[in-house]
Amino acid sequence: MKTNSKEQSALIRKGIIPGPTALTGIVVAICAFGIVWSSTLIISIDLAVWIKTAIFAVSAMILCIPFQLPRWWIAIFAILPTAYLIMEGQSFPIWIYPTLAGGLLLLNWNSFRDRVPLYLSNKKTVETLSQFIDEKIEIEKFYDLGCGIGSALIPLAKRHPNKDFIGIETAPLTWFILWIACKLSGCKNVQIHRKSIWDISIKDADLVYAFLSPHPMDKLLLKCKKELPKGAVLISNSFDSEKFPAKEMIPVQDRRQTKLLIWEF
Ligand SMILES: C[S@@+](CC[C@H](N)C(=O)[O-])C[C@H]1O[C@@H](n2cnc3c(N)ncnc32)[C@H](O)[C@@H]1O
Repeated sequence: MKTNSKEQSALIRKGIIPGPTALTGIVVAICAFGIVWSSTLIISIDLAVWIKTAIFAVSAMILCIPFQLPRWWIAIFAILPTAYLIMEGQSFPIWIYPTLAGGLLLLNWNSFRDRVPLYLSNKKTVETLSQFIDEKIEIEKFYDLGCGIGSALIPLAKRHPNKDFIGIETAPLTWFILWIACKLSGCKNVQIHRKSIWDISIKDADLVYAFLSPHPMDKLLLKCKKELPKGAVLISNSFDSEKFPAKEMIPVQDRRQTKLLIWEF
């Protein structure tokens, strides 16, 4: 069930599991800037903007490989400099840039501390979770720790109107979108809390779902061992714990080859 480091690297490159944090992307961008800067020094002529941008883009795309960034980062380093060249000379209001950067930060608030960015459970995973609730476990309370914009929480709450669904999320913009999505869904059996998953009690949970990253998994398992009642179950989308490996796994029939790892306490 556990993946070895070669398999893990391959999954990171394919973007199936997240690899290094957003900080690594920033380091790659800084190195690419360094390459542009040193090339202008070495050649000692002022290069045209499009040449500098092209050197930046190509260097960053190549650097993604040794830095083990997933493939979608290569696309980012191709698209952003191209967008910059297209926009050059156009007069966009200056507030656009800090607004875009701020929006990304407010969505990925937990990338820095917990190393958990925002990505969403897909429909097939939600169907598999729903089937698990129908067939494998009697539950009253379901917790989604780090529930994002409610991609799993809200559809599950709709399908199981007699059970309580509790979502925990701290990223400010993500939480705001989640709050609107909950209001629009009209679900009466969903509660959301803008708190850290480390600051809430899960003592009354029957089923806990988490789609985080490899980084907090040992800590999450310790929390579950300490707080969950006997018979409660933790399902982790994709990520196992080094210290407390899962003994059961349900494969999801999707393109990402999602694995739902299961612990019973
Ligand atoms: C990979 S997303 C998964 C979202 C959702 N569970 C889903 O399956 O679609 C992980 C979410 O966990 C949130 N998160 C990470 N660390 C957290 C923490 N300590 N407290 C609350 N939320 C956290 C992130 O902000 C992010 O929205």
